[in-house]
Amino acid sequence: MIIGIPKETLPGEARVAMVPEVAARLVNKGFSLQLESGAGLPAGYHDDDYVAAGVEIVDRRQALAAELVVKVRKPSAEEVGGMREGALYVGFVETCNESDQVLQAMFDRGIRPLAMERIPRISRAQSMDALSSQSNIAGYRAAIEAAARYGRFFPLMMTSAGSVKPARVVVLGAGVAGLQAIATAKRLGAEVYAYDIRPETREQIESLGARAIDLDLGEEGSGEGGYARELSDEAKARQQALLAEELARAHVIITTALIPCRPAPVLITESVVKRMREGSVIVDLAAANGGNCPLTEADKVVRKHGVILVGHTNYPSMMAGDASTFYANNIANLLGIMVEQGESGPRLKDLSEDEITRAALMTPAGDSRH
Ligand SMILES: NC(=O)c1ccc[n+]([C@@H]2O[C@H](COP(=O)([O-])OP(=O)(O)OC[C@H]3O[C@@H](n4cnc5c(N)ncnc54)[C@H](O)[C@@H]3O)[C@@H](O)[C@H]2O)c1
Repeated sequence: MIIGIPKETLPGEARVAMVPEVAARLVNKGFSLQLESGAGLPAGYHDDDYVAAGVEIVDRRQALAAELVVKVRKPSAEEVGGMREGALYVGFVETCNESDQVLQAMFDRGIRPLAMERIPRISRAQSMDALSSQSNIAGYRAAIEAAARYGRFFPLMMTSAGSVKPARVVVLGAGVAGLQAIATAKRLGAEVYAYDIRPETREQIESLGARAIDLDLGEEGSGEGGYARELSDEAKARQQALLAEELARAHVIITTALIPCRPAPVLITESVVKRMREGSVIVDLAAANGGNCPLTEADKVVRKHGVILVGHTNYPSMMAGDASTFYANNIANLLGIMVEQGESGPRLKDLSEDEITRAALMTPAGDSRH
């Protein structure tokens, strides 16, 4: 089975879907890998490293024409045009809208998209869960970003030249990214507080040594599959008001509250930003979905009312070497359940048989499996 790995083309994307170390394992299992020349360079992997792992270096046209194409970011129209009819695509598809034109173009040409963001959040699928592997990196990098932008110390400092109190860091949203941001800010010595709408996160927050912020919203925030659900307008207003006091006292806020395919909830209002101390930092991981703070600007770092607002939208790409390794491992583990050994090497199984691949495989609306 031939796997093509084209170079990522979305602006600012430095990851690659396969790294030499993981490629070597797949080659050992009988896969043939064809990588577009230079695809690994932004993540720090040279063509020579891939060749040493048994990967063939090809041009873009050939990488896209493989029977199985693996990528990180959503495919472009050009990429779909270059893929062969009936091919399998494995990568993020990044659409909330099933009438998305690129997705339709894939269906029209019989290309089957297996969306990494649809891998179910079940124990057996943890090693294939790229949303988690990348969110974990985002949480770490967000805390580092906050510490670097904050013009003061995170830890308590007692020196002969004076003493400073630790930074007060508030993390909003204690999912995968939030928990890693909490752990990283704690390791840097900050005093960390965290809040999530799902009450079950309290124990996880406290197990990392942070303090959980309790708010009585008058309604349940837990939704399906471990995700948060959107609050009523009344509860949203109550949440903003109750959070305001905690947030105005924060020196750093790392906010990660996302609801899949919905605009990000506003948790930090402009009036809170105005009350924060000069030089405070807000790292808004929801910037791509409108931000948890309406003053955040996606892909920019801005200063408003004396507060630095960081709106980067692709933290994993800022740590492309490790992010690519985690992603490639997720892909290799997924391939492990997608194929069986045939006489001439690995061959694809019926993807509707396993609950993981069945959930990830996107089919046209109207298809009975949809
Ligand atoms: N294999 C597994 O079992 C597995 C793997 C990964 C994640 N999970 C679970 O999936 C769930 C989602 O994790 P995620 O990191 O993808 O979350 P996410 O990125 O969708 O959201 C981030 C966090 O923001 C919180 N949030 C949303 N709206 C909020 C609001 N208005 N105020 C405060 N917080 C708000 C959410 O509850 C969530 O914890 C979690 O329960 C996580 O433990 C399970």
